[in-house]
Amino acid sequence: MAKPPLASERKIVFSDEVLQDPYPTYTRMLEEGPLHFVDMGGQWAVWAVFGHAECSAVAKDPRLSAKRAQQMIITLPPGSQAEFADLARMLGLWMIFMDPPEHTRLRKLLNKGFSPAAVDGLRPQVEAIVDRMLDPLKPGSEVELMNRFANPMPVRIILEMLGIPQSLSDMFVKWSRDIALFRGNPNRTVEQARAAQDALHGLTDYFRTAVAERRKNKGTDLISLLIDIEEEGEVLTEEELYAQCIAMLFAGHETTRNLIGSGMYTLLQHPEETAQLRDKPEMIRPAVEEILRWESPVQFTARVLKEDIEVCGQKIPKRWSILCMLGAANRDPRQFKDPNQLNLKRLNNQHLAFSAGPHFCIGSQLARLEGQVALLKLVQRYPQMKLVGPKPEWAPTFGFRGLKSLQVRL
Ligand code: HEM
Repeated sequence: MAKPPLASERKIVFSDEVLQDPYPTYTRMLEEGPLHFVDMGGQWAVWAVFGHAECSAVAKDPRLSAKRAQQMIITLPPGSQAEFADLARMLGLWMIFMDPPEHTRLRKLLNKGFSPAAVDGLRPQVEAIVDRMLDPLKPGSEVELMNRFANPMPVRIILEMLGIPQSLSDMFVKWSRDIALFRGNPNRTVEQARAAQDALHGLTDYFRTAVAERRKNKGTDLISLLIDIEEEGEVLTEEELYAQCIAMLFAGHETTRNLIGSGMYTLLQHPEETAQLRDKPEMIRPAVEEILRWESPVQFTARVLKEDIEVCGQKIPKRWSILCMLGAANRDPRQFKDPNQLNLKRLNNQHLAFSAGPHFCIGSQLARLEGQVALLKLVQRYPQMKLVGPKPEWAPTFGFRGLKSLQVRL
């Protein structure tokens, strides 16, 4: 990241106002061009690509690095940065913040746990968990759907995959939230950094014990798989092993809960389309793809330039960051017909909700499965579901878009 050449060139995207409805701003930006210089608060600004083709190209470009954990610290006040060296180091161990060859090796090994067969095998578990969670929620009753269902559901699935007791789910949700508030917030604060660092310490301590126990008693869960990877002679340090468990837990929870929450909110705002889905359940696959495009749970990702490069005719120097605005790319009229219209039957929906290139979401099939099962069951079980109370607000994490709460009558 670097200082802007001209303050007047900065565009405001990361504001509380835009957060509540970023789409008119995205539309305006896309009309003006695919690349903009975006204000990051304080003295900071970065280049950001908004177009679909450009986001895809940046995410795939080997001249750009995914190693950006350190970059998250340098926007904090200079006097406080030393306190968070451990935070940057721990995040830097996540596969999503690695480059080849470390990334390639780890990704190849982890792919085993997320193969289509492995994910498909989880369908009965996902359906059973969703049914168990929805059974106590009676039609006609009033509930806050984020807390009662969308937030805890994906964490239950990922805990099951990792072989961790469900009784710990509240603690993991709290830790995950603390990391999301730091990671997903371009205007991050020292307090958020402190909470994220504490959460990572807590999670690392937990997985240190869990991995030691699992070594004595291996199963078919993801932790056991990661231990086997290590035993195959690959260079995976203990800390790297804990880091992948944490990353999986975080990535599996913080995104999918918002696919379900924002997805249900979207469906409630489009009753005619939702009625069609209820009548034709086979529509759920394209419907979930459209919801991923419409309210992308990950609104942007970032890369760091390994060398000077030119993007959209603009020379950008080495070591600068560039943002890929995935949420904007998913509304790009050059890629999507009527991008600001929800179409649950949209064909050839090449959205970038899971990014592109080597870091394309490893959990995409699992997320799709969870989204399809959860949303279809909600729509079928509660045909009368309605929004109640004041208009829902969006949580203050720009990167991870999701509702603070969703009050409904079932
Ligand atoms: C709707 C749900 C989800 C969305 C929208 C989503 C989105 C994304 C995106 C955009 C990336 C790439 C970021 C980049 O290019 O920098 C990513 C990577 C990743 N996701 Fe997901 N994700 C979801 C669910 C999941 C689930 C369920 C898991 C695992 C249980 C998961 C695990 C990961 C991991 C480990 C990576 C890093 C992959 C790599 O670096 O090679 N995600 N996800």
